[in-house]
Amino acid sequence: MNANLIEKVNKLQDLFAKVGVQNTGIDLPQIVVVGSQSSGKSSILENIVGKDFLPRGAGIVTRRPLVLQLINRNPQTSRAPSISRTSGETPVITEPTEWGEFLHIPNKKFTNFDDIRDEIVRDTASKAGTNGGISKDPINLRIYSPNVLTLTLVDLPGLTKVPVGDQPKDIEHMVREMILGYIKVPNAIILAVTAANTDLANSDSLKLAGEVDKDGLRTIGVLTKIDLMDPGTNVVDILAGRVISLQLGYVPVVNRGQRDIESQKKITKALDDEKAFFGQHPVYQSMSQVCGTPFLAKKLSMILTGHIRKSLPDMRAKLSSKLLEYRRELDSLGNDVTDESSQAYVMLSLIKKFSDEFFQVLDGSFPDLDPS
Ligand code: GDP
Ligand code: NA
Ligand code: MG
Repeated sequence: MNANLIEKVNKLQDLFAKVGVQNTGIDLPQIVVVGSQSSGKSSILENIVGKDFLPRGAGIVTRRPLVLQLINRNPQTSRAPSISRTSGETPVITEPTEWGEFLHIPNKKFTNFDDIRDEIVRDTASKAGTNGGISKDPINLRIYSPNVLTLTLVDLPGLTKVPVGDQPKDIEHMVREMILGYIKVPNAIILAVTAANTDLANSDSLKLAGEVDKDGLRTIGVLTKIDLMDPGTNVVDILAGRVISLQLGYVPVVNRGQRDIESQKKITKALDDEKAFFGQHPVYQSMSQVCGTPFLAKKLSMILTGHIRKSLPDMRAKLSSKLLEYRRELDSLGNDVTDESSQAYVMLSLIKKFSDEFFQVLDGSFPDLDPS
């Protein structure tokens, strides 16, 4: 039921991207990952997906927004129609169980996740060059897997201060504005990442989140690099809300370190190690069920679903008024629109098609709403 609701929003997202309607005035709920450069944002996303597929590492690696839709999907096995009655067993056609699809390469299933990373690197270079440049133009990637929770996540370039390579002098401002563009909308849930071996009071992500979410109602704190903290220090006070309090709380995680990346440590091993880290730690042992990536993923899915439920009526109202606006425009154009070759006609049928599809997708999700 919940997953269904998020899938509908995912469909709407695709629709927006395909039709290229930027100014519909409707913002779809999604989780946006924010943090300083190299705080571990891309690593968190990989751990949530449970696959190696993102470029990551020291320095500026993520240079364009990545809109990542995760879709939980059980493998489907279908029987092919029998060709010959005498040939015994009917052949069984099995779909791949996990794959990725890019919006800019329709109908191609990427079953090898290394190819997904290569494509992200290639497409990033084609839009942002190879010398540290960044671009606002997002990459849209969908991952289907039985091992993910249905979620939409946005990975962003990290906050940085000093320009390198081809970066403009105002790189700090540019990245800030790009991030603010994603998190200022009330429908965004902010995953504010801070490395636990840095001071929370100086956290760029919490500062930025605080600018748009003053009461901390839609910000989740994620503390990375718990394994790199000085011996004798821990995040217990932060988790208890005694340092900077967030209504949705904090989740501590341990991702792979740079050396693990270089030695190609498997993600399954990394997740086992993370579990062991919290489970055997003298301080975190007693609270290990609320630590680590699997807990973070569950928490995100629940928060996103609740958030979507709350925002659906508003989305519908906004779309209705947009539609009305377009109809009026159509009326005011009079006879021109009957000429099928006219630009107005083409534009309006596009918008009509868009809103029809939009309502179709939305309608199915209304039974999910609590009538009270
Ligand atoms: P991003 O720039 O915020 O996307 O950060 P990345 O995910 O690319 O990670 C930056 C660097 O920090 C990489 O070398 C990671 O291996 C390392 N890193 C990230 N999280 C952790 C962690 O929890 N523990 C350790 N030891 N290293 C981490
Ligand atoms: Na990085
Ligand atoms: Mg990154």
